[in-house]
Amino acid sequence: MLLSKPVTDIIPKRFSVRSYINDPIEENKKKKLRGFFLENISGPLGSQARFILVSASLEDREELKGLISYGMIRNVPGFIIGATGYGEKNLEDFGYMMEKNILMATDMELGTCWLGATFNSSGFARKINRREDEIVPAVCAIGNHREKKTAWEKIVRTTLGSDRRKPWDDLFFTEGGALTREEAGSYSLCLDMVRIAPSATNNQPWRILKMKERNIFHFYLQRTFGYQTISKATDKEDAQRMDIGVAMCHFELTALETGLSGKWQVEYPGIGLPSGNAEYVVTWIGGK
Ligand SMILES: Cc1cc2nc3c(=O)[nH]c(=O)nc-3n(C[C@H](O)[C@H](O)[C@H](O)COP(=O)(O)O)c2cc1C
Repeated sequence: MLLSKPVTDIIPKRFSVRSYINDPIEENKKKKLRGFFLENISGPLGSQARFILVSASLEDREELKGLISYGMIRNVPGFIIGATGYGEKNLEDFGYMMEKNILMATDMELGTCWLGATFNSSGFARKINRREDEIVPAVCAIGNHREKKTAWEKIVRTTLGSDRRKPWDDLFFTEGGALTREEAGSYSLCLDMVRIAPSATNNQPWRILKMKERNIFHFYLQRTFGYQTISKATDKEDAQRMDIGVAMCHFELTALETGLSGKWQVEYPGIGLPSGNAEYVVTWIGGK
């Protein structure tokens, strides 16, 4: 993944853009994104996905408008649509891959907004010619935007609590307690980049446990009560599993950029979180 700036500069710049300006997405940026989609086809846990970019001229933005429900997002000039197959870790992988697309777009100064709930699945499925063996778990609005957030965006952000992030101590642990920055060592920046990641309704369900004296990080999902029920009732995929993929993406890209090697592995470590009820998902095994 070739970025023009350090990923640790790009990640803090990203925020969910819900109001776009009339300028269409530039042709050279569309070409670069489409080129990246051709290489961004496999997740770290073995799933495949494919992505397309649909964009509209100013005149036919109305057509795209029909694809998003609840009017949360305004004047969208384009969408990244993704499809993936069924599989045990398909949604984590999808989250990871879509977030890479988003960071690539952020690097090109384009605004983005994940849409895992407020979108019309069947309309987007038609656009990407979804096959029988595929699902469209989420899409991403994309386009040019003003530097300053509009009044509308500020209202949505306040409603969702988008500017708040949980403190480090609520998210990161070691065996038996909270993880200090000293214990996290060279990985503290990776954890900082996870902490500011986007997540569905900003629930920040990622929890990470570092093994003492070793660069082994177990990722858990702390489910938000009722969230899965709503997803099922509205015929949407489990966005909180995609949130874990987003966290993996930020963690891994930051690690690689700071010279820390490692690999992902799924093997239940036999230890839970101090809070007790989070689900184990995946482990980062850091190199020596
Ligand atoms: C998997 C996922 C699904 C999301 N779905 C929606 C959505 O359906 N509608 C929406 O307006 N925002 C959606 N968001 C954006 C979040 O609301 C947003 O990331 C969060 O409020 C934090 O704000 P920020 O992205 O500006 O940092 C989603 C984010 C993620 C990661």
